[in-house]
Amino acid sequence: MAFPIQRPRRLRRNLSMRALVRETTLAPGDMILPLFFSATAKQAEPIGTMPGVMRLPIGSAAAEAKSCRELGIGGVILFGLPAKKDPEGKAGFDPDGPVPRAIAEMKSAAPELLVMADVCNCEYTDHGHCGVLRKRADGTIDVHNDATLEILAQDALCYARAGVDVVAPSDMMDGRVGALRKALDAEGFDEIAILSYSVKYASGFYGPFREAADCAPQFGDRAGYQMDPANAREALREAALDEEEGADMLMVKPALPYLDIIARLRQQTTLPIGAYNVSGEYAMIKAAAAANMIDERRATLEALTCIRRAGADFILTYHAKDACRWLNP
Ligand code: PBG
Repeated sequence: MAFPIQRPRRLRRNLSMRALVRETTLAPGDMILPLFFSATAKQAEPIGTMPGVMRLPIGSAAAEAKSCRELGIGGVILFGLPAKKDPEGKAGFDPDGPVPRAIAEMKSAAPELLVMADVCNCEYTDHGHCGVLRKRADGTIDVHNDATLEILAQDALCYARAGVDVVAPSDMMDGRVGALRKALDAEGFDEIAILSYSVKYASGFYGPFREAADCAPQFGDRAGYQMDPANAREALREAALDEEEGADMLMVKPALPYLDIIARLRQQTTLPIGAYNVSGEYAMIKAAAAANMIDERRATLEALTCIRRAGADFILTYHAKDACRWLNP
């Protein structure tokens, strides 16, 4: 039964009809806003590569928490810029560091706001890699997987003690979900959830973030631990391992060039899936909109809706506040 019996346009003829048959929704509660807290900033500092995103002083954490709560945002994920870096990234588990302090301020100002902390060493190491370095027998240098796990566990414990709801390891070391779960449970933090950056690609779309968080590797790249963009089966294997190790939620990152990965992972797991709409994806829309090449609001809501359509339950996105305002004027 084809044309003239079937006319798919009947279901598109007006707003109410389109609303009735819409398959995917996008709501403020589906979005997680990434925030950068700096130990040294006296006031909010704009980030050149990410128009509209700021490095925030700790003193603004309470007000930021309240404004996110009022917008109905699903939650926030915190990144830190420490006062000092070293080869091991010890500032990552300093209880006076920017992330634990911001967690405590935000949770006391808005206890209902879901606060997540990114767990990774690259913001805290002077070499900018996501873990501890070691020299192999042949003289080359790489990130030492198992030594890094101990530091990541200390980071997670530090954020747990500060009152975080979710820890999100983004380092791509093997075995880190199990290591964090074990360390958290041993201290009685069995209610703290782990959102694993299970499928994190070595992507060119992280460029603007590395300026924001001052964490570009000082030599080499992250291809020895982050995934090859050419691989999909490997993504499913990474996710399955994290699930076995006790991850509560899985993440795919970046989002837009990897919608196929989100869709395939949706078939494999019953766990909630998050997708990280990363800094480069954000910067592209901002730059094109600033040049009057696209309509920012329309392109943003379309991109976010399509990430949900692919199978993501929630989206980590720098557009979160704007999108919430557009959805709930
Ligand atoms: C830390 C981390 C990165 C991002 C989130 N956590 C940078 C990286 O891996 O180089 C990127 C986020 C973004 O680009 O928005 N490892």
